Amino acid sequence: PAVEYGLEAPFTVEYHDAVASTNELARERAVDGAANVAVLADEQTGGRGRLEREWNSPPGGVWVSIVTRPSIAPAQAPLYTLAAAVATARVAREAGVDARIKWPNDVVIPDGDDGDYRKLAGVLTEMEGETDRIEWLVVGIGVNANLDAGDLPEGATSVREEASDVDRRRFVQRLLEEFDRLREDLERIVPAWRELTLTIGQRVRVDRAAGEVVGEAVDVTDTGALVVETDDERVTVSAGDCEHLRPV
Ligand code: BTN
Repeated sequence: PAVEYGLEAPFTVEYHDAVASTNELARERAVDGAANVAVLADEQTGGRGRLEREWNSPPGGVWVSIVTRPSIAPAQAPLYTLAAAVATARVAREAGVDARIKWPNDVVIPDGDDGDYRKLAGVLTEMEGETDRIEWLVVGIGVNANLDAGDLPEGATSVREEASDVDRRRFVQRLLEEFDRLREDLERIVPAWRELTLTIGQRVRVDRAAGEVVGEAVDVTDTGALVVETDDERVTVSAGDCEHLRPV
């Protein structure tokens, strides 16, 4: 199937017209022992975002979940999320939009000069494993590709609205190729991410269960956590701890 899809990257693509969530299906494949499978659907009836949020997934978007079994430590798993965001932003840029990354995993289009943005795509990573080894990782990517303004939630945009329609098959192909290349060399992911982010250098407010942090986002660590400089200290926030981040 990978060959039929014309892919250079070693993924088998499993396509569905409609599913509840490609992440759910990918999890099932992962539990069954699959690796390097990409589950793709034209439409999701129960798409999921981070923090139990719903993810609007009508026909016309790119809804895909990648199953991998990497030999990395669980602490490095966030790098795969960053890699998916980098791959998505790069391919969206090829489609003619000014896609940038908002830490940790939102692909956005800047809206004006005040740090505002509209969301184009998101990444939801799920994994299973022990403390020292990952068993499997599912990286779900949702891109508002060929969607009308009326089909988008508030604060979102689409490639169609910003530029013009994409060939979704080609988009997925490029996405898988970029993701595959990035995962081969984990050390190059954070530098590639830094080049595309709009978060670094911004004054931000981060909501966490442990309390909010307000300060300048100065860098990301080598596993992708955000370093925020407040008036009196440097705080490192991991993606899993972040409930909300906004420029202030
Ligand atoms: C977010 O920004 O909150 C993450 C959104 C992730 C959406 C994608 S669409 C494909 C995959 N299947 C899902 O149910 N969610 C992810």
